[in-house]
Amino acid sequence: MEHAEDAGVYRLRDDLAIIQTVDFFTPIVDDPHTFGRIAVTNALSDIYAMGGRPITAMNIVCFPIRTMDVKILREILRGGLDQMREAGVLLIGGHSVEDNEPKYGLSVTGVIHPERILFNNGARPGDRLILTKPLGTGIVSTALKAGVADAALVARSVAAMTTLNKRAAELMAERVDVHACTDVTGFGFLGHALEMAEGSGVGMRIDASSVPFFPEIRRFVEEEMIPGGLIRNRQFREKQIAVGPGCPNWLIDVLFDPQTAGGLLIALPPDSAKSLLNGMREAGIDEAAIVGEVTAAPKGIIRVE
Ligand code: CO
Ligand code: CO
Repeated sequence: MEHAEDAGVYRLRDDLAIIQTVDFFTPIVDDPHTFGRIAVTNALSDIYAMGGRPITAMNIVCFPIRTMDVKILREILRGGLDQMREAGVLLIGGHSVEDNEPKYGLSVTGVIHPERILFNNGARPGDRLILTKPLGTGIVSTALKAGVADAALVARSVAAMTTLNKRAAELMAERVDVHACTDVTGFGFLGHALEMAEGSGVGMRIDASSVPFFPEIRRFVEEEMIPGGLIRNRQFREKQIAVGPGCPNWLIDVLFDPQTAGGLLIALPPDSAKSLLNGMREAGIDEAAIVGEVTAAPKGIIRVE
């Protein structure tokens, strides 16, 4: 647990370790089945980010059973189960408590070979950085609550949040030279990239124009319709970001947007990055992109150009 990882690892044998993680939260979409799918996609992500394979899970449920229709709970759980089936994960139990507002998530156990574990602290100068999903799910959720996000945009955001990182992780695990990986969640792309840079004792240069995001969110950011978490993420890390003259302010906000069930951020050598990216595109992970590179200095600083 020492280096800001979201999952813990325990070695059972020389060739086998278990990875354990837990995640649950309140609904971010209106449809209960979709919420269940998003919560499970999010909970499994930390196992995939370490290169592991999730095997079993237990439901964690909070629900106002006296005041809310139990059909809603059933739909949340059905959505979660559908997503676990897609992931090949077996639901083996769970626990529920009465609460004022619904919450759902999982405790997950995965497996991995102890020598194949990927941490977020192994990035090396010269590595390229791959991001596998578009950014903006937090901003879209905020716009949805304000009633100004159109259905097509919301559908694309939901599609991103319900896409398992399974296939991306499998393709990553086929390679022997991946140096570091993490998943992009609450701290935003730059927050998680900075954790990787600090843990690895390196800097990074990000080419902002190559970072995938939902283009419609620019308008919301310019109208300051952004999540509170984005503002906190940016304030917390602002001193560690050097912004180039060509990079607009709204785009920095996008790079700090808190993500739910976001993509993987992977550091690996340049040739390997190109071939992994090709493999991802062939596998239908269409928005994956090389977004920057790891630099030797200045350590713990990300330059965004
Ligand atoms: Co987590
Ligand atoms: Co994580």
